[in-house]
Amino acid sequence: MSAIKKRIMVGVSGASGAPLAVACLKELKQFHDWEAHLILGEGAAETIEHETEYTVDQFTKLADHVYPLHQLGASPASGSFETAGMVIVPCSMKTLAGIHSGYGDNLLLRAADVTIKEQRKLVLVARETPLSPIHLRNMSELSMIPGVTIMPPVLTFYQQPKSIDDVIHHLVAKILGRFGLEVGGFKRWEQP
Ligand SMILES: Cc1cc2nc3c(=O)[nH]c(=O)nc-3n(C[C@H](O)[C@H](O)[C@H](O)COP(=O)(O)O)c2cc1C
Repeated sequence: MSAIKKRIMVGVSGASGAPLAVACLKELKQFHDWEAHLILGEGAAETIEHETEYTVDQFTKLADHVYPLHQLGASPASGSFETAGMVIVPCSMKTLAGIHSGYGDNLLLRAADVTIKEQRKLVLVARETPLSPIHLRNMSELSMIPGVTIMPPVLTFYQQPKSIDDVIHHLVAKILGRFGLEVGGFKRWEQP
């Protein structure tokens, strides 16, 4: 790993929730000793353009490095490329299924597979509703692997959000918190 910067892999797949990915990448920019290494899944371009104010080109500029999905020879395809782990935000049920079965036919799936085999942190912001028995089985079995966290983007109200941005900020703080990153303004629960 770079002597100065820690790397975090950020996967973005085509589930609803592209604004969460924007917020994660923007927040990561606050941590100057970290680098965001981005891979977009097959469906990500459509959700980014539909759900955010960013074009795909503008979106990719939020990351420090971007890898083509089908470049299976890129660095994150190898465990020798050191990272602190990977977050997939949002994570589609298709990508979840690919990770569950170890089917690494694109760089997003391969990088997740590498993260698991190297026993690094893998946070899957798995998004679908309602959830089928197949989705739930995949999440349940993946959750038993050391280092894997299944973190659906579930709403929280105890911090008394006033806007969607407040809700997103809380979720992003919880996601990045898994990597030891303390996001400013995160309201932890304290009994009144
Ligand atoms: C607007 C939009 C929203 C979608 N939302 C979801 C979703 O919430 N969860 C999901 O699993 N798939 C969702 N999909 C379908 C995925 O994009 C599709 O399964 C795609 O093949 C996923 O590929 P990827 O994981 O490689 O990005 C959505 C598609 C579109 C166009």
